[in-house]
Amino acid sequence: MKKVGIIGVGEYLPEKILTNADLEKMVDTSDEWITTRTGIKERHLAAPGEASSDLAFKASVQALNNAKIKPEELELIIVATITGDMSFPSVSAILQNKLQAKKAVCFDISAACAGFVYGLSVAQQFISCGTYKNALVIGSEVLSSITDWQDRNTCVLFGDGAGAAVLSEVKSGGIISTYLGCDGSKAGILNLPAGGSRNPATHETVEKRMHFLKMQGNELFKIAVNTMTQAAETVLKQAGLTFSDVDLIIPHQANRRIIMAVAKKLGIPEERVYLNIERCGNMSSASTVTALCEAVQEGKVKKGDIILLDAFGAGLVWGACVIEW
Ligand code: ACO
Repeated sequence: MKKVGIIGVGEYLPEKILTNADLEKMVDTSDEWITTRTGIKERHLAAPGEASSDLAFKASVQALNNAKIKPEELELIIVATITGDMSFPSVSAILQNKLQAKKAVCFDISAACAGFVYGLSVAQQFISCGTYKNALVIGSEVLSSITDWQDRNTCVLFGDGAGAAVLSEVKSGGIISTYLGCDGSKAGILNLPAGGSRNPATHETVEKRMHFLKMQGNELFKIAVNTMTQAAETVLKQAGLTFSDVDLIIPHQANRRIIMAVAKKLGIPEERVYLNIERCGNMSSASTVTALCEAVQEGKVKKGDIILLDAFGAGLVWGACVIEW
């Protein structure tokens, strides 16, 4: 089996920024509540008409430049998203055309906030067994399009953005271990009820605001802490490593309190946890990969470092990955 690593990363965050002060004018909330309960200060919002493939394209161009790979060298594009441009075709197919990556096989993954880690794992299999040489894995979301801007329980949490990673065969290091999981029995605690085959769009579904994300945040909080802790422990054990070997943990950015509770349980000090939640909010599949990209760009990830990605989201699904950079 070939060793597979990330050879380039990129991100795109839309220009418009929505601050907690802006939200105070929209719903009954306060900067103090949002900051202390979530760690979020501001989030980026896509412009009207800007879709997931537009964000994905900008992040991908940066990642490809960074990796020194031309679009025509890509053989696989996987986009993780829960906010595709439309139900079908896939964002990855639309992106293939934008990039002119004509040789690439394309499909999307629906694994919510764990989508990027799921995508990494799938791309790794294709490259390690020699089917494809270069793959592009993206997390891209326009969550503002499924956010109920009248619901203070959810609208303060989410943001838009995209991150991309180019995967290829590497001589040393690379992905050491991945671990994925799912518990479909809890699918009801975080979902978007209408617009699919169960409840196709009708006047009634629109009136009942069923095209917006619904979440039992409190219930999810506890599950997220336990599941992310267990996923991190499992993937490190599989890798034959311990927490003292981890240079940087890059978790899904749903809530600062969830992240810090996980780090505390794992015995990882705060300075070894990368956060972008304060500036970006929860961008679902885009959170882990943009955080990875920013950590690399800020020089917080050096060659030979051990990185731990740890994500959890709707499904419920989770995924963790250990990488030697
Ligand atoms: N401003 C002010 N008050 C608020 C707001 C707000 N924006 N939102 C809720 N409240 C109120 C509630 O109404 C409640 O009031 P009450 O006690 O009078 O009923 C009170 O604050 C406390 O509500 P809780 O739900 O207990 O607040 P909690 O501390 O749990 O924080 C939060 C809520 C931030 C949503 C948290 O539960 C959380 O982060 N959950 C996990 C989210 C997550 O991990 N999602 C998975 C990934 S997302 C994905 O897959 C797309």
